[in-house]
Amino acid sequence: VQTKLVHAGDAAIEEAARIIKNGGLVAFPTETVYGLGANGLDFKAVEGIFKAKGRPSNNPLIEHISHMDMLQLLTEHVPEEAKVLAEKFWPGPLSIIMPKEKHVPANVTAGLNTVAIRMPDDAVALSLIEKCGVPIAAPSANASGKPSPTDAAAVMQDMSGRIDMILDGVRCSVGVESTVLDLCLETPCILRPGGITAEMLRETLGKVDIHPAALARIDKTQARSPGMLHRHYAPNARMIVLSGEEENVAKEMIRRYDQSINEGLRTRIICTAQCAVRLQGRPACVLGSSERPETMAATLFAELRQADADDIQLILAQAVPVQNIGLAVMNRMLRAAEFNIVEV
Ligand code: TXA
Ligand code: MG
Repeated sequence: VQTKLVHAGDAAIEEAARIIKNGGLVAFPTETVYGLGANGLDFKAVEGIFKAKGRPSNNPLIEHISHMDMLQLLTEHVPEEAKVLAEKFWPGPLSIIMPKEKHVPANVTAGLNTVAIRMPDDAVALSLIEKCGVPIAAPSANASGKPSPTDAAAVMQDMSGRIDMILDGVRCSVGVESTVLDLCLETPCILRPGGITAEMLRETLGKVDIHPAALARIDKTQARSPGMLHRHYAPNARMIVLSGEEENVAKEMIRRYDQSINEGLRTRIICTAQCAVRLQGRPACVLGSSERPETMAATLFAELRQADADDIQLILAQAVPVQNIGLAVMNRMLRAAEFNIVEV
């Protein structure tokens, strides 16, 4: 198919809604990352998502809604905590796992009896869902295993020729995918950290667990969905995360960078502004100030994709403190690096 890339004006959103209602695939902006949407109640349309992404069928999708009334199409019972969270954090970067309604297609949930639901905080996304009149099932609009796209051009790179249309909207403001919160356990548990942080959730719910997958490799017995086991966010380059006091990290970066360049490898440093000034002239990609971890979240995926575009072979990345949205940034970095972390 020919993939149309269109500015997300009203007429384009109308057309996108028609495509989705007819079983087609449309990529659209959200505040987290671009999503690849299909009619979330149509098994066949959802099959197309897995095909276009090359996504393993055991990795479940998130249903996107524009209105609380849509919840009843997806879940038989809205947990009390979910109502409180929705009131506080929707629209926003929080996906809530609830018991699923029987009409939700089995491929959306990868056969699980639960479903992840979120209301995105983006005018184009909300208008698109509203015009479709059904929930939109949407994973991130990248090829499976690649860093998520935070602008339409990145979607085009991965999805051109594979989907019907891309709605070109604003650059994603959060830049990492939504927090995935499982409410179907004894204690609510963050399966994937994101823009709505553990600190924020605890303030609202009290006790909230963080799944060990947030910062470590896990095995089958620990996974809440098989999707948690897949490799993710990986650039083509080998990537090493360096953790420790900034002064020591900077020294080690210089050492490893010089060595790698001497070996003839195309090498890139990704770090904070504060670290970059300690590199004695070595070039660095600055994610942002260490005082503004939300800026680092917003730029990380674009830098990983840029490294691919520049054919980089080794990425040296500075670890970030795991407070607030820093946990989400560190989670994505560690996965991109396949948990290759060095303490210095
Ligand atoms: O911000 C986001 O969440 C973006 C935008 C487009 O909304 N979407 C996104 O979707 O990141 P995706 O498919 O890339 O990630 C969905 C995550 C996966 O880690 C999947 O395993 C988890 O949600 N998930 C979905 N349904 C689940 C369920 N019923 N139980 C456990 N995990 C689930
Ligand atoms: Mg994804």
